[in-house]
Amino acid sequence: MSTIKKIGVMTSGGDSPGMNAAVRAVVRTAIYNGLEVYGIRRGYDGMIHGDIFRMEAHDVSNIIQRGGTILKTARSKEFMTEEGRKAAYDQLKKHGIEALVMIGGDGTFRGAVAFFKQYDIPAIGLPGTIDKDLSGTDFTIGFDTAVNTAVEAIDKIRDTAESHDRLFIVEVMGRDAGYIALNSGISCGAEDILIPETVTRINEVLDRIESDEHRKKTVHILVVAEGDDFGGAKEVDEKIRERFPELSSRICILGHIQRGGSPTYADRVLASRLGHAAVIALMEGKTQVMSGIQNGQVTFTPFEGVVKQNTPISEDMLNMIRTLSI
Ligand code: F6P
Repeated sequence: MSTIKKIGVMTSGGDSPGMNAAVRAVVRTAIYNGLEVYGIRRGYDGMIHGDIFRMEAHDVSNIIQRGGTILKTARSKEFMTEEGRKAAYDQLKKHGIEALVMIGGDGTFRGAVAFFKQYDIPAIGLPGTIDKDLSGTDFTIGFDTAVNTAVEAIDKIRDTAESHDRLFIVEVMGRDAGYIALNSGISCGAEDILIPETVTRINEVLDRIESDEHRKKTVHILVVAEGDDFGGAKEVDEKIRERFPELSSRICILGHIQRGGSPTYADRVLASRLGHAAVIALMEGKTQVMSGIQNGQVTFTPFEGVVKQNTPISEDMLNMIRTLSI
Protein backbone atom coordinates (compact mmCIF):
# COMPACT_ATOMS: atom_id res chain seq x y z
CA MET A 1 0.00 0.00 0.00
CA SER A 2 1.25 3.51 -0.84
CA THR A 3 1.82 6.34 1.60
CA ILE A 4 -0.25 8.85 -0.41
CA LYS A 5 -2.34 11.09 1.83
CA LYS A 6 -3.49 13.95 -0.43
CA ILE A 7 -4.91 13.57 -3.91
CA GLY A 8 -6.15 16.07 -6.49
CA VAL A 9 -9.06 15.51 -8.87
CA MET A 10 -9.90 17.44 -12.01
CA THR A 11 -11.97 17.34 -15.19
CA SER A 12 -10.40 18.52 -18.42
CA GLY A 13 -11.22 19.02 -22.12
CA GLY A 14 -14.79 18.91 -23.43
CA ASP A 15 -17.25 18.14 -20.64
CA SER A 16 -19.28 14.95 -20.80
CA PRO A 17 -22.36 13.75 -18.94
CA GLY A 18 -21.24 11.55 -16.05
CA MET A 19 -18.15 13.57 -15.16
CA ASN A 20 -19.88 14.64 -11.95
CA ALA A 21 -20.67 11.03 -11.08
CA ALA A 22 -16.97 10.27 -11.58
CA VAL A 23 -15.88 13.18 -9.36
CA ARG A 24 -18.30 11.98 -6.68
CA ALA A 25 -16.90 8.45 -6.82
CA VAL A 26 -13.31 9.68 -6.58
CA VAL A 27 -14.00 12.07 -3.69
CA ARG A 28 -16.03 9.59 -1.67
CA THR A 29 -13.72 6.62 -2.24
CA ALA A 30 -10.73 8.73 -1.23
CA ILE A 31 -12.38 10.08 1.93
CA TYR A 32 -13.69 6.62 2.84
CA ASN A 33 -10.09 5.41 2.70
CA GLY A 34 -8.75 8.24 4.84
CA LEU A 35 -7.28 10.43 2.09
CA GLU A 36 -7.62 14.20 1.74
CA VAL A 37 -9.08 15.32 -1.58
CA TYR A 38 -8.49 18.59 -3.44
CA GLY A 39 -10.61 19.70 -6.36
CA ILE A 40 -8.76 21.43 -9.19
CA ARG A 41 -11.03 23.77 -11.15
CA ARG A 42 -10.85 24.20 -14.95
CA GLY A 43 -8.52 21.28 -15.62
CA TYR A 44 -4.87 21.96 -16.38
CA ASP A 45 -5.56 25.72 -16.49
CA GLY A 46 -6.69 25.67 -12.87
CA MET A 47 -3.68 23.56 -11.93
CA ILE A 48 -1.35 26.15 -13.44
CA HIS A 49 -3.09 29.01 -11.65
CA GLY A 50 -3.59 27.24 -8.33
CA ASP A 51 -7.39 27.12 -8.48
CA ILE A 52 -7.40 24.31 -5.95
CA PHE A 53 -9.72 23.70 -2.97
CA ARG A 54 -10.32 21.06 -0.31
CA MET A 55 -13.31 18.80 -0.92
CA GLU A 56 -15.44 16.97 1.61
CA ALA A 57 -17.92 14.16 1.07
CA HIS A 58 -20.89 16.57 1.15
CA ASP A 59 -19.39 18.68 -1.66
CA VAL A 60 -20.40 15.94 -4.07
CA SER A 61 -23.94 15.44 -2.74
CA ASN A 62 -26.72 15.64 -5.30
CA ILE A 63 -24.47 15.70 -8.36
CA ILE A 64 -24.58 12.11 -9.64
CA GLN A 65 -27.54 13.01 -11.86
CA ARG A 66 -26.23 16.35 -13.11
CA GLY A 67 -24.66 16.96 -16.52
CA GLY A 68 -21.61 19.19 -16.95
CA THR A 69 -18.90 19.22 -14.31
CA ILE A 70 -18.95 20.99 -10.95
CA LEU A 71 -15.16 21.27 -11.23
CA LYS A 72 -15.53 23.17 -14.53
CA THR A 73 -13.26 22.36 -17.41
CA ALA A 74 -11.05 23.94 -20.06
CA ARG A 75 -8.76 23.16 -22.96
CA SER A 76 -5.46 24.60 -21.75
CA LYS A 77 -3.05 26.11 -24.26
CA GLU A 78 -0.63 27.06 -21.47
CA PHE A 79 -0.24 23.45 -20.38
CA MET A 80 1.16 22.67 -23.81
CA THR A 81 4.26 24.68 -22.92
CA GLU A 82 7.08 23.60 -20.60
CA GLU A 83 6.63 26.72 -18.49
CA GLY A 84 2.94 25.95 -18.08
CA ARG A 85 3.63 22.40 -16.93
CA LYS A 86 6.31 23.64 -14.52
CA ALA A 87 3.85 26.13 -13.03
CA ALA A 88 1.28 23.35 -12.66
CA TYR A 89 3.80 21.11 -10.89
CA ASP A 90 4.81 23.94 -8.54
CA GLN A 91 1.16 24.47 -7.59
CA LEU A 92 0.69 20.77 -6.82
CA LYS A 93 3.78 20.88 -4.59
CA LYS A 94 2.57 24.09 -2.92
CA HIS A 95 -0.74 22.44 -2.02
CA GLY A 96 0.95 19.21 -0.91
CA ILE A 97 -0.89 17.17 -3.55
CA GLU A 98 0.88 13.85 -3.94
CA ALA A 99 -1.24 12.15 -6.59
CA LEU A 100 -3.79 13.01 -9.27
CA VAL A 101 -6.99 11.68 -10.79
CA MET A 102 -7.75 13.26 -14.16
CA ILE A 103 -11.04 12.82 -15.99
CA GLY A 104 -10.99 13.74 -19.67
CA GLY A 105 -10.48 12.73 -23.26
CA ASP A 106 -7.76 12.59 -25.86
CA GLY A 107 -6.32 16.08 -25.14
CA THR A 108 -6.22 15.36 -21.41
CA PHE A 109 -4.19 12.20 -21.94
CA ARG A 110 -1.86 13.86 -24.42
CA GLY A 111 -1.24 16.56 -21.80
CA ALA A 112 -0.69 13.86 -19.19
CA VAL A 113 1.90 12.06 -21.31
CA ALA A 114 3.91 15.28 -21.65
CA PHE A 115 3.51 16.20 -17.97
CA PHE A 116 4.53 12.87 -16.49
CA LYS A 117 7.58 12.62 -18.74
CA GLN A 118 8.85 15.66 -16.83
CA TYR A 119 7.38 15.13 -13.38
CA ASP A 120 7.01 11.94 -11.41
CA ILE A 121 3.63 12.17 -9.66
CA PRO A 122 1.35 9.15 -9.29
CA ALA A 123 -1.68 9.63 -11.53
CA ILE A 124 -4.68 7.71 -12.78
CA GLY A 125 -6.90 8.86 -15.67
CA LEU A 126 -10.56 8.26 -16.36
CA PRO A 127 -11.99 8.31 -19.90
CA GLY A 128 -14.43 11.23 -19.93
CA THR A 129 -15.51 12.19 -23.44
CA ILE A 130 -18.64 11.86 -25.54
CA ASP A 131 -16.51 10.91 -28.57
CA LYS A 132 -15.37 7.47 -27.32
CA ASP A 133 -12.10 8.06 -29.16
CA LEU A 134 -9.75 6.43 -26.66
CA SER A 135 -8.19 3.00 -26.67
CA GLY A 136 -8.11 0.84 -23.56
CA THR A 137 -11.83 1.09 -22.85
CA ASP A 138 -14.98 -0.16 -24.53
CA PHE A 139 -16.94 2.88 -23.36
CA THR A 140 -16.13 6.40 -22.24
CA ILE A 141 -18.05 8.39 -19.66
CA GLY A 142 -20.68 10.46 -21.49
CA PHE A 143 -20.80 8.51 -24.72
CA ASP A 144 -23.99 6.61 -23.91
CA THR A 145 -25.79 9.79 -22.88
CA ALA A 146 -24.64 11.68 -25.99
CA VAL A 147 -25.82 8.90 -28.28
CA ASN A 148 -29.19 8.80 -26.52
CA THR A 149 -29.51 12.56 -26.90
CA ALA A 150 -28.77 12.27 -30.63
CA VAL A 151 -31.23 9.38 -30.98
CA GLU A 152 -34.00 11.37 -29.32
CA ALA A 153 -33.33 14.31 -31.64
CA ILE A 154 -33.11 12.22 -34.82
CA ASP A 155 -36.37 10.40 -33.97
CA LYS A 156 -38.05 13.81 -33.79
CA ILE A 157 -36.46 14.84 -37.07
CA ARG A 158 -37.81 11.69 -38.70
CA ASP A 159 -41.35 12.67 -37.69
CA THR A 160 -41.16 15.94 -39.56
CA ALA A 161 -39.17 14.36 -42.43
CA GLU A 162 -41.96 11.81 -42.91
CA SER A 163 -44.63 14.48 -42.91
CA HIS A 164 -42.89 16.49 -45.61
CA ASP A 165 -41.23 13.67 -47.57
CA ARG A 166 -37.90 15.31 -46.92
CA LEU A 167 -34.28 14.37 -46.85
CA PHE A 168 -32.46 15.37 -43.69
CA ILE A 169 -28.77 15.52 -43.08
CA VAL A 170 -28.13 15.42 -39.35
CA GLU A 171 -24.67 16.40 -38.19
CA VAL A 172 -23.56 14.92 -34.90
CA MET A 173 -20.38 15.56 -32.89
CA GLY A 174 -17.16 13.65 -33.43
CA ARG A 175 -14.17 15.57 -34.69
CA ASP A 176 -12.03 12.49 -35.27
CA ALA A 177 -14.39 9.69 -34.38
CA GLY A 178 -17.65 8.40 -35.83
CA TYR A 179 -18.98 6.44 -32.88
CA ILE A 180 -21.81 8.84 -32.09
CA ALA A 181 -22.79 8.96 -35.77
CA LEU A 182 -22.60 5.21 -36.19
CA ASN A 183 -24.54 4.30 -33.08
CA SER A 184 -27.20 7.00 -33.32
CA GLY A 185 -27.56 6.35 -37.06
CA ILE A 186 -28.12 2.62 -36.58
CA SER A 187 -30.52 3.26 -33.70
CA CYS A 188 -32.61 5.64 -35.80
CA GLY A 189 -32.62 3.57 -38.99
CA ALA A 190 -30.57 6.13 -40.92
CA GLU A 191 -30.34 5.60 -44.66
CA ASP A 192 -26.64 6.47 -44.60
CA ILE A 193 -23.94 7.22 -42.02
CA LEU A 194 -20.80 9.17 -42.88
CA ILE A 195 -17.86 8.90 -40.51
CA PRO A 196 -14.22 10.02 -40.40
CA GLU A 197 -12.88 6.46 -40.09
CA THR A 198 -13.94 5.56 -43.63
CA VAL A 199 -13.41 7.42 -46.91
CA THR A 200 -16.68 9.06 -47.94
CA ARG A 201 -17.23 8.70 -51.68
CA ILE A 202 -19.88 11.33 -52.15
CA ASN A 203 -20.95 10.03 -55.56
CA GLU A 204 -21.74 6.66 -54.02
CA VAL A 205 -23.79 8.42 -51.35
CA LEU A 206 -25.70 10.25 -54.08
CA ASP A 207 -26.17 7.02 -56.05
CA ARG A 208 -27.74 5.43 -53.00
CA ILE A 209 -30.15 8.35 -52.66
CA GLU A 210 -31.06 7.95 -56.33
CA SER A 211 -31.71 4.24 -55.98
CA ASP A 212 -33.81 4.89 -52.85
CA GLU A 213 -35.81 7.39 -54.89
CA HIS A 214 -36.40 4.78 -57.60
CA ARG A 215 -37.70 2.47 -54.94
CA LYS A 216 -40.11 5.21 -53.87
CA LYS A 217 -38.43 5.78 -50.56
CA THR A 218 -39.61 9.24 -49.65
CA VAL A 219 -37.63 9.88 -46.49
CA HIS A 220 -33.87 9.81 -46.16
CA ILE A 221 -31.97 10.46 -42.98
CA LEU A 222 -28.23 10.85 -43.43
CA VAL A 223 -26.22 11.04 -40.23
CA VAL A 224 -22.83 12.67 -40.70
CA ALA A 225 -20.09 13.05 -38.10
CA GLU A 226 -18.78 16.62 -37.96
CA GLY A 227 -15.26 15.35 -38.72
CA ASP A 228 -16.15 13.30 -41.79
CA ASP A 229 -13.41 13.53 -44.42
CA PHE A 230 -15.82 14.88 -47.04
CA GLY A 231 -17.18 17.60 -44.77
CA GLY A 232 -20.12 18.25 -42.50
CA ALA A 233 -23.85 18.50 -43.16
CA LYS A 234 -23.55 21.73 -45.19
CA GLU A 235 -21.05 20.29 -47.66
CA VAL A 236 -23.07 17.10 -48.10
CA ASP A 237 -26.25 19.12 -48.59
CA GLU A 238 -24.64 21.24 -51.32
CA LYS A 239 -23.78 18.10 -53.31
CA ILE A 240 -27.27 16.71 -52.85
CA ARG A 241 -28.89 19.93 -54.05
CA GLU A 242 -26.60 20.05 -57.07
CA ARG A 243 -27.56 16.56 -58.21
CA PHE A 244 -31.19 16.46 -57.02
CA PRO A 245 -32.55 20.02 -57.30
CA GLU A 246 -36.10 18.66 -57.05
CA LEU A 247 -35.49 17.01 -53.66
CA SER A 248 -36.51 18.87 -50.54
CA SER A 249 -33.56 18.69 -48.14
CA ARG A 250 -32.80 20.23 -44.78
CA ILE A 251 -29.86 20.10 -42.44
CA CYS A 252 -29.78 19.93 -38.67
CA ILE A 253 -26.58 20.35 -36.66
CA LEU A 254 -27.11 18.92 -33.19
CA GLY A 255 -23.96 20.51 -31.74
CA HIS A 256 -23.41 21.01 -28.05
CA ILE A 257 -26.83 19.71 -27.04
CA GLN A 258 -25.03 16.33 -27.18
CA ARG A 259 -22.65 17.37 -24.43
CA GLY A 260 -25.24 18.27 -21.83
CA GLY A 261 -28.05 16.66 -19.91
CA SER A 262 -28.51 14.18 -17.14
CA PRO A 263 -26.27 11.12 -17.60
CA THR A 264 -27.93 7.81 -18.41
CA TYR A 265 -27.77 5.01 -15.85
CA ALA A 266 -25.01 3.39 -17.94
CA ASP A 267 -22.81 6.49 -17.70
CA ARG A 268 -23.49 6.87 -13.97
CA VAL A 269 -22.52 3.25 -13.27
CA LEU A 270 -19.45 3.47 -15.52
CA ALA A 271 -18.30 6.72 -13.89
CA SER A 272 -18.86 5.31 -10.40
CA ARG A 273 -16.94 2.10 -11.13
CA LEU A 274 -14.02 3.84 -12.82
CA GLY A 275 -13.78 6.61 -10.20
CA HIS A 276 -13.80 4.10 -7.37
CA ALA A 277 -11.25 1.88 -9.14
CA ALA A 278 -8.96 4.85 -9.84
CA VAL A 279 -8.54 5.71 -6.16
CA ILE A 280 -8.01 2.09 -5.15
CA ALA A 281 -5.43 1.78 -7.94
CA LEU A 282 -3.56 4.85 -6.68
CA MET A 283 -3.48 3.39 -3.18
CA GLU A 284 -2.14 0.13 -4.59
CA GLY A 285 0.70 2.00 -6.26
CA LYS A 286 -0.51 2.03 -9.85
CA THR A 287 0.37 5.12 -11.85
CA GLN A 288 0.13 6.72 -15.29
CA VAL A 289 -2.63 4.40 -16.37
CA MET A 290 -6.22 5.00 -17.40
CA SER A 291 -8.94 2.96 -15.75
CA GLY A 292 -11.29 1.70 -18.44
CA ILE A 293 -13.89 -0.96 -18.95
CA GLN A 294 -13.15 -3.91 -21.22
CA ASN A 295 -15.49 -6.88 -21.54
CA GLY A 296 -17.29 -5.71 -18.44
CA GLN A 297 -14.14 -5.65 -16.29
CA VAL A 298 -12.16 -2.65 -15.04
CA THR A 299 -8.75 -2.57 -16.73
CA PHE A 300 -5.73 -0.25 -16.64
CA THR A 301 -3.93 0.96 -19.76
CA PRO A 302 -0.79 3.14 -19.81
CA PHE A 303 -1.50 6.75 -20.84
CA GLU A 304 0.58 6.45 -23.98
CA GLY A 305 -1.52 3.50 -25.12
CA VAL A 306 -4.87 5.27 -24.87
CA VAL A 307 -4.13 8.18 -27.20
CA LYS A 308 -2.36 6.50 -30.07
CA GLN A 309 -5.11 4.63 -31.84
CA ASN A 310 -8.85 4.29 -31.68
CA THR A 311 -10.76 1.05 -31.59
CA PRO A 312 -11.46 0.35 -35.28
CA ILE A 313 -15.02 0.64 -36.51
CA SER A 314 -16.39 -2.81 -37.20
CA GLU A 315 -16.78 -3.60 -40.92
CA ASP A 316 -19.75 -5.84 -40.04
CA MET A 317 -21.57 -2.88 -38.57
CA LEU A 318 -20.90 -0.75 -41.63
CA ASN A 319 -22.11 -3.49 -43.97
CA MET A 320 -25.17 -4.05 -41.83
CA ILE A 321 -26.30 -0.45 -42.36
CA ARG A 322 -26.57 -1.04 -46.12
CA THR A 323 -28.72 -4.13 -45.53
CA LEU A 324 -31.00 -2.61 -42.93
CA SER A 325 -31.67 0.60 -44.82
CA ILE A 326 -33.11 -0.97 -48.00
O1 F6P B 1 -14.31 16.21 -27.62
C1 F6P B 1 -15.68 16.30 -27.53
C2 F6P B 1 -16.24 17.27 -28.53
O2 F6P B 1 -17.58 17.46 -28.20
C3 F6P B 1 -16.06 16.90 -29.99
O3 F6P B 1 -17.02 15.97 -30.44
C4 F6P B 1 -16.21 18.24 -30.63
O4 F6P B 1 -15.59 18.26 -31.88
C5 F6P B 1 -15.52 19.15 -29.68
O5 F6P B 1 -15.59 18.52 -28.42
C6 F6P B 1 -16.07 20.56 -29.58
O6 F6P B 1 -15.28 21.25 -28.70
P1 F6P B 1 -15.61 22.71 -28.15
O7 F6P B 1 -16.76 22.58 -27.20
O8 F6P B 1 -14.37 23.13 -27.47
O9 F6P B 1 -15.97 23.53 -29.32
